[in-house]
Amino acid sequence: MTRTPGKTVLVTGGTGLLGKGLEETMPSGWRVVSLHQRAYKVTGSKATHLILDIRDKRAVDRLFARRRFDAVVHAAGIASVDYVENHYAESLESNIVGTLNVTSAARRADTHLIYVSTNAVFDGKKAPYRETDPVHPINQYGRLKVECERLVQETLQRWTIVRPILMYGWNHAVTRPNPATWIYEKLLKGETVSMVTDVHENPLYNISCGHALWAAIAKRPSGIFHLAGRDEVDRYQFALAVAAAFGLDAALVKPVTSKAFPGIAPRPKNTTFVTTRMARELGVRPMGVREGLEAMKAAMAARA
Ligand SMILES: NC(=O)c1ccc[n+]([C@@H]2O[C@H](COP(=O)([O-])OP(=O)(O)OC[C@H]3O[C@@H](n4cnc5c(N)ncnc54)[C@H](OP(=O)(O)O)[C@@H]3O)[C@@H](O)[C@H]2O)c1
Repeated sequence: MTRTPGKTVLVTGGTGLLGKGLEETMPSGWRVVSLHQRAYKVTGSKATHLILDIRDKRAVDRLFARRRFDAVVHAAGIASVDYVENHYAESLESNIVGTLNVTSAARRADTHLIYVSTNAVFDGKKAPYRETDPVHPINQYGRLKVECERLVQETLQRWTIVRPILMYGWNHAVTRPNPATWIYEKLLKGETVSMVTDVHENPLYNISCGHALWAAIAKRPSGIFHLAGRDEVDRYQFALAVAAAFGLDAALVKPVTSKAFPGIAPRPKNTTFVTTRMARELGVRPMGVREGLEAMKAAMAARA
């Protein structure tokens, strides 16, 4: 079994937006092994990259037999709400079978596992939500996440569940855009964007999410944590904030309601989180939308 000096966290889905935030906030003395399934090269990454499909139980078992990890952050899976709704069988394999493979291996290795869930476990009718509120998902993605949460809680001794809400930040070019980068690109090209006024969240900057995850890795608390920003906004207000932060044309942002998108999976209307536990136990202050977008702008300027 390979053991190198310092501590190592395995991040499944390490190239996603969450994984990028985790990597960029890595404290000294730690290393990240970033696991993903497609064979691409990630520029500017501080992690060691590992190409592995978590649906492949033998490959997952081999990895844990070969290497000892100090913690596992399990974030891999299909995270697009609409894709899950339209490709349910494939999503079951990635999200349920994949999670079973990773949690089983972590259990046998007696490694603390942090499972990354979502705000989509709620129906959006009784916001703001605390960690103790009963779950009631209204789409297939949320239902799969609830099953994974149950699997983690019922089979592992050493676990934390984090539920990030709508995340934004600079993603790796090889992975999917998020609301901030999608709106930014559209407005930059002078294209209009139709944004809904009836879906509310308190969006989370991926760097804040990274800080919360490192605190969870260090403290290994049991239980569920809601991770979110300070400001409750609808998607239209969020798009206006992106336009303002990057000096783009706010007139291109058009308000609509969800009725304008009849073909997509149902979204809970208001899943705003209470973040008291995140602040108190993980020591992460919820960041406002304007502050997060300004931080994105500063990061872009630093790269230029
Ligand atoms: N983004 C959000 O706003 C948000 C909000 C709440 C919760 N979450 C949860 O947070 C987690 C991370 O989300 P994200 O937005 O960072 O993800 P993302 O950008 O969609 O990236 C998904 C990651 O998972 C990997 N992956 C998918 N299927 C895999 C498989 N079968 N085997 C190995 N790797 C696989 C992908 O690798 P490839 O690139 O190689 O396919 C990629 O690294 C997810 O569990 C998601 O449900 C996200």
